[in-house]
Amino acid sequence: MKILVTGGAGYIGSHTTLALLEAGYEVVVLDNLCNSSDAALHAVEGICGKSALMIRGDVCDRALLDRIFQQHSIDAVLHFAGLKAVGESVRKPLEYYETNVSGSITLCQAMAAAGVFRLVFSSSATVYGEPEQMPIREDFPTGIPTNPYGQSKLIVENVLRDLSQAEPRWSIALLRYFNPIGAHDSGHMGEDPSGIPNNLLPYISQVAVGSLQELSVFGDDYPTADGTGVRDYIHVVDLADGHLKALQAIDGRTGIHTWNLGTGDGYSVMQVLRAFEQACGKPVPFRVMPRRSGDIAESWADASKAEKELGWKATRNLQDMVTDTWRWQSNHPNGYLE
Ligand code: NAD
Ligand code: WQD
Repeated sequence: MKILVTGGAGYIGSHTTLALLEAGYEVVVLDNLCNSSDAALHAVEGICGKSALMIRGDVCDRALLDRIFQQHSIDAVLHFAGLKAVGESVRKPLEYYETNVSGSITLCQAMAAAGVFRLVFSSSATVYGEPEQMPIREDFPTGIPTNPYGQSKLIVENVLRDLSQAEPRWSIALLRYFNPIGAHDSGHMGEDPSGIPNNLLPYISQVAVGSLQELSVFGDDYPTADGTGVRDYIHVVDLADGHLKALQAIDGRTGIHTWNLGTGDGYSVMQVLRAFEQACGKPVPFRVMPRRSGDIAESWADASKAEKELGWKATRNLQDMVTDTWRWQSNHPNGYLE
């Protein structure tokens, strides 16, 4: 079985490509490398001894997509390609809507033309906005995203819902990720953000490795146990396994299906920081700063639907996540660039 993985050189896409190859799938990656490097795919090959076919190009390029579907007998598509920095999306909305929304539409058009109707889409818990209660279930109403990135995910979810209504041959999985962190336990694949990281874990690990001075803790006056924000962090390898389970679950099952991919547990910024200090064996300097605009107090998943319907459950705990992150960061202080 041959899978097209858009964005397969990126953080989650590369870990999922590895999981696919290990499970015996053939993989074609389409990535323009705007936020990644093909070193991630070399690492995949080093780990499993198999390689994906890498095609460098843009998911908005319809002619290229048509050529890929003509040249390869693709059975299904995992669609990771997209831009994901919330703050940048506020400054560059058109780039975000073009890549995330137009890119997804172009991909679906090319898939339909090629007769490929099985799609797994990378959505995000951000589509829930600020729910009134926790844990978050898939049947909660979607919220009003406060930034173009979140809007783009919600728009694509709605486009795909309309598409599956209009054309019953589609089998679509919307996977709403919570907060993916961690790295492959080899220590040779992990998250390698360009520039100064926006997200908590890469920031902490770059402070620990000495590339950044101190962590800013954005707010300690939230209505949470220790006042800092609470999130459902999920190990990227568990997340990758969730994709394989979703891919199998929608085989022969048409319609659109939504699954949360989270652990069901929430941890505060300070709990994550303390866990990381234990993993790296040294203090990580931090300073409490005002809240970051757009942040919510807490967010964690009800992950029972995925367990029931996909037979998938995250198995790695917070200490595994921070230990694996630290192994990657300390082995590769400059990420893939060395
Ligand atoms: P990433 O930036 O590491 O990976 C995205 C990949 O897509 C990169 O390799 C990038 O080069 C590629 N890409 C971007 N624009 C492209 C284009 N126009 N054509 C071809 N390739 C393009 O990000 P990630 O963390 O691996 O995220 C993967 C997906 O999951 C994204 O759609 C993201 O929005 C979604 N997601 C991520 C998170 C998270 O916290 N990491 C949470 C929820 C959802
Ligand atoms: C986690 C917690 C921060 C950085 C974002 C996107 C979301 C999804 C995942 C793609 C919060 C605190 C953070 C720092 C801090 N991405 N924090 N200091 O905001 O939950 O989600 O990434 O879909 O859409 O919004 O993740 O890692 O940025 O923050 O104190 O330097 O850490 O306030 O409580 P977030 P995050």
